[in-house]
Amino acid sequence: MSESTIAFIGGGNMAHSLVGGLIAGGRSPQHLWVADPFVDQLDTHRHRHGINVTQENTEAAAHADVIVMAVKPQILREAAAQIASIVQERQPLVLSIAAGLREPDISRWLGGNVPVVRAMPNTPSLLRCGATALYANPSVSAAQKTLAEEIMAAVGMALWVDEEAHMDAVTATSGSGPAYFFLVMEAMENAARSLDLPPELARRLVLQTALGAARMANEGDDDPATLREKVTSPGGTTAAALEVLREQGLEECFRKALTAARDRSQTLSDEFGRD
Ligand SMILES: NC(=O)c1ccc[n+]([C@@H]2O[C@H](COP(=O)([O-])OP(=O)(O)OC[C@H]3O[C@@H](n4cnc5c(N)ncnc54)[C@H](OP(=O)(O)O)[C@@H]3O)[C@@H](O)[C@H]2O)c1
Repeated sequence: MSESTIAFIGGGNMAHSLVGGLIAGGRSPQHLWVADPFVDQLDTHRHRHGINVTQENTEAAAHADVIVMAVKPQILREAAAQIASIVQERQPLVLSIAAGLREPDISRWLGGNVPVVRAMPNTPSLLRCGATALYANPSVSAAQKTLAEEIMAAVGMALWVDEEAHMDAVTATSGSGPAYFFLVMEAMENAARSLDLPPELARRLVLQTALGAARMANEGDDDPATLREKVTSPGGTTAAALEVLREQGLEECFRKALTAARDRSQTLSDEFGRD
């Protein structure tokens, strides 16, 4: 990894996870900056990671080859305005991880014609097991794309999309996705308890089964449909359960759920992007 200087605007949960992942991956703390208005947050970064900290967004931005916008979406416009003149002068890569904010809006708030990568990570990034989709505008160079991918790969898997319009479907799939799996775990746990399993046993069996199934799907050669077929003997217990799930419209339910999330993502992005 090249030793570009990376500055985080916003030192919250995602910044902690990204900084931790970058340092674990070999990046030297001297090349990392975090700006946050809150001294306690900065002290935690300094003590935990030994990186450069400042209360001034402009000071961090002035050192950076890459500026990671890691503030809440509703704060981003204000933070962008603070650093816009530095960005115009130095032309660093700007990597936004703010959910729902579109690249043209971010670029405009930074004064226009800026290399911007928009990333959509998900919550497991906090455990460095995230799934992130990235979109680069045409001003981003190949080297900057590599750097953006390296940064997000520090907290999990990072994949590119060619069209920003796909980000709403990404939000519906991996962004909101952890909650769908949590709901399935919750529903299975409740169902197991209704079959008289002790609560602790029900929970532990469900959580380990979810982990095991996810590992089999990720680490083996078979796709999920093949894995499902392999564990479903005709006339057996799994077949009995899957038949009920199909009859009850599980697949249609997920289609409708992801469509609702995609549509909501579009609406929120329209609202966030208004001047
Ligand atoms: N956490 C996730 O799993 C996740 C997943 C996908 C996307 N994201 C995106 O990642 C971004 C960061 O999320 P997060 O969970 O890390 O949020 P967070 O923990 O709230 O971190 C944001 C940090 O920015 C600080 N801040 C507020 N105003 C600022 C300003 N003007 N300049 C600089 N820093 C400022 C906040 O301080 P205060 O807290 O005191 O206000 C906080 O320390 C968000 O846009 C979110 O949409 C997060």
